[in-house]
Amino acid sequence: MKLFQRKQPDQTAALAQSASAAGQPSAEQITAKAIISSIDEGLILLSADGVITVFNPAAARITGWNTEEAINLNFLSIFRLVDSQDRELKEAGNPVVDAIKNRQPDKTDTFSIVTKHGEKLNLDLSVMPMEQGTLLVFRDITDRKKQDAEKTDFISTASHEMRTPVTAIDGYLGLLANPTTATIDERAKGYVEKAQSNVKHLGQLFQDLLDTTKADDNRINARPVPLNATEVAKGAVNDLSAKAAQKNLQLTYDAGQTLQPIYLILADRDQLLEVLYNIIENAIKYTAQGGVAVSVDGDDSKVRFKIQDTGVGITPEDLPHLFQKFYRIDNSDTREIGGTGLGLYLSKKLVDNMKGRIFVESVPSKGSAFFVELPRISEAEAKLATQTTPPLPPPPVQESTAPTLDQPVAPTVQINPPESIAPQA
Ligand SMILES: Nc1ncnc2c1ncn2[C@@H]1O[C@H](COP(=O)(O)OP(=O)(O)OP(=O)(O)O)[C@@H](O)[C@H]1O
Ligand SMILES: [Mg+2]
Repeated sequence: MKLFQRKQPDQTAALAQSASAAGQPSAEQITAKAIISSIDEGLILLSADGVITVFNPAAARITGWNTEEAINLNFLSIFRLVDSQDRELKEAGNPVVDAIKNRQPDKTDTFSIVTKHGEKLNLDLSVMPMEQGTLLVFRDITDRKKQDAEKTDFISTASHEMRTPVTAIDGYLGLLANPTTATIDERAKGYVEKAQSNVKHLGQLFQDLLDTTKADDNRINARPVPLNATEVAKGAVNDLSAKAAQKNLQLTYDAGQTLQPIYLILADRDQLLEVLYNIIENAIKYTAQGGVAVSVDGDDSKVRFKIQDTGVGITPEDLPHLFQKFYRIDNSDTREIGGTGLGLYLSKKLVDNMKGRIFVESVPSKGSAFFVELPRISEAEAKLATQTTPPLPPPPVQESTAPTLDQPVAPTVQINPPESIAPQA
């Protein structure tokens, strides 16, 4: 696409001009023009080859270019998008160029525009391929992004600070529950177990909030290594089988009928496991009877994990919202089940970061199938990646919050002096 390439005015299809081209504009054309001029969203219509044919006043206000300047220019010359790392998107990765090429609609809020005056504004942008051309609708969300960043910062600091005392409480409860470090009666033991399970939940919640803020800030530090997808899936099934058994559910790895090829992927093992755990734990949580089957299949270009359950299912109205932050379905089947609505949000962020796709199919009251698709790599690519993977950095030094015998402990509890104390995790 050529920048600053002006088309002859008579070749353009500016809506306003074409309205009057065939004589008097119709009532519908006048109404359309009034709406386009008065809406708060920036609206740009492009011809099939990316030339601006309609540029409404809101588009002029946001971009800093006036309508006369913009009309007949290739959009790339004035609709200058940059990504989160401030890289200008000429062709590769530009959502408008992609939509024009692929004829697929797109909606994104991850890009910014550089205005005529050099200012950078965050945009909420929808790109819609039309019969002849492409429609861009956008809003300036710089203020909202700033508020979001402040909120994220607050949540991140608060959850980080709160995690420290929670870890300490967990440690003390571990000491209490351990007969070699404390003596308590059976009734107290029951209370301690309940407190322990709740404090673990609280700790997990703070961890999820921290992970969420990291994901929101694009601070997911992945260390991708070649992995055998089948082995990772089997490992996740193994790790969670006790949890399923507690609910009398079958959790199985379904190897299929035919001999499976080796499905290799490039991913951070811990992050992939976190995604699989989140989905499998959900499947267990939202299934009352029956079971959960995990399987892996794929083709030349991708590998697909499938987690199928026989649980409560999800209605078509809820399906599009499942991966939103804090989204939980509130109905009689799910009301009593605890959760925060962060698991799937985080999973999607992680899968996006792996250049993959996560999606779901479901039949209410019958069950759901969650899918994670990741790019497949060849054995040669795996070998190359193994040779080029840098060594692991040293583990971060962690502040110790574990209680010791010197620290004060609730006076009503008798602490047995052990030789060494290792609080339960
Ligand atoms: N397998 C499933 N079957 C039915 N509903 C599900 C399933 N998985 C997720 N959901 C619905 O999607 C919602 C969002 O799931 P998500 O994992 O993000 O949150 P959560 O499980 O409620 O809490 P947590 O943050 O602790 O994971 C759930 O509250 C539940 O209503
Ligand atoms: Mg969950």
